[in-house]
Amino acid sequence: MHVGQSLEKGAIYLVTRTSGGRQGVVRKYRDWLPGIPDWAIVTLGEGETPLIEAPHLSERIGTRLYLKFEGMNPTASFKDRGMTVALSVAVAGASRACICASTGNTAAAAAAYSARAGISCFVVVPAGKIALGKAVQVLAHGAKIIQIQGNFDAALKLSQKAAEDLGDVVLVNSVNPDRIEGQKTASLELCEALGRPPDTLVLPVGNAGNITAYWKGFKEWRGAGFADTAPRMFGFQAEGASPLVTGRDFEHPETVASAIRIGAPASKEGALTAVRESGGLIESVTDEEILHAQALLAGEEGVFCEPASAAGIAGLLKLAGEDRCPEGTIVSVLTGHGLKDPDVILKRASLPEPVPATFEALVGSMEKAERAER
Ligand code: F0G
Repeated sequence: MHVGQSLEKGAIYLVTRTSGGRQGVVRKYRDWLPGIPDWAIVTLGEGETPLIEAPHLSERIGTRLYLKFEGMNPTASFKDRGMTVALSVAVAGASRACICASTGNTAAAAAAYSARAGISCFVVVPAGKIALGKAVQVLAHGAKIIQIQGNFDAALKLSQKAAEDLGDVVLVNSVNPDRIEGQKTASLELCEALGRPPDTLVLPVGNAGNITAYWKGFKEWRGAGFADTAPRMFGFQAEGASPLVTGRDFEHPETVASAIRIGAPASKEGALTAVRESGGLIESVTDEEILHAQALLAGEEGVFCEPASAAGIAGLLKLAGEDRCPEGTIVSVLTGHGLKDPDVILKRASLPEPVPATFEALVGSMEKAERAER
């Protein structure tokens, strides 16, 4: 607790501030993570994201559904959990710089945590293919952005080679095990919040680091004796970028969910193991199903996530439609905030023309808007 003073109109007020309890995942889960000295911790207070009940969607799929809203992390995606660990380790090891390939969110998180750490950050992205909000974040944090004429998979290969050949540049993609360690903390949080592991965990899958991390977390929770069970892991890919479903890499992955536009997932084995060991599944959903799920989340539950994040809900709705939805408590991870990708919304809707600033015009517009909705 911090106690300060402020002077106003001659009176002295005592101002009491607390840190709000958000100590960041490295401090909170110290016993579960690689050892990091206190002086090296790079945190922005990530983690402790809300677990939100979804009554309308629960009704649609016929079982109890919660949303783990990872868009509430400091850079508005789940990547912050892994980045705090990766950058803290980089600082502890006196690294000069970090590099990552990205469809946008890894880049935004790497940029923010590097800025905080005071080390250089290079992000390699497919030219013109990352969502506007994510590009803006990278620019705001002053990272060096390199746009390549190639897709994410090419960007990852180049970044890996740069990290290997240049020596003092750390790769902060999820092939870096420190990222996985950080991301697994979301499983621990879920078990704590529910008092036990969920029966099923649902999430979008791109490069497959996150499903690998969640499964590691659940297994460790069970291994530590806190639970007898672990959830079934249900992963969903976008149909146009679904190598784990078809069993072959996609040379030209394509989907509206740009975050998961990935043709050759680096953590493929981790994903397949999670699904096999947990008795889960990996299936695909169409872009149309993804956008429909995003609209339902925003319009009925009041939760605005980016398209990729809605892939899990799209998958659940599809399973429910085929009478294959699992029973029990389901948690769907909403991996990133909707504000990351404003263009997806603006393509389908636009602001109306301005009207005169009169009461009559206001009421006329209200009636017109209500008529249009009917
Ligand atoms: N959801 C969002 C919002 C993402 O940004 C990503 C991955 C995923 C889901 C899939 O997670 O790759 O661990 O299976 N984004 C990476 C990036 C690839 O560069 O930001 P995954």
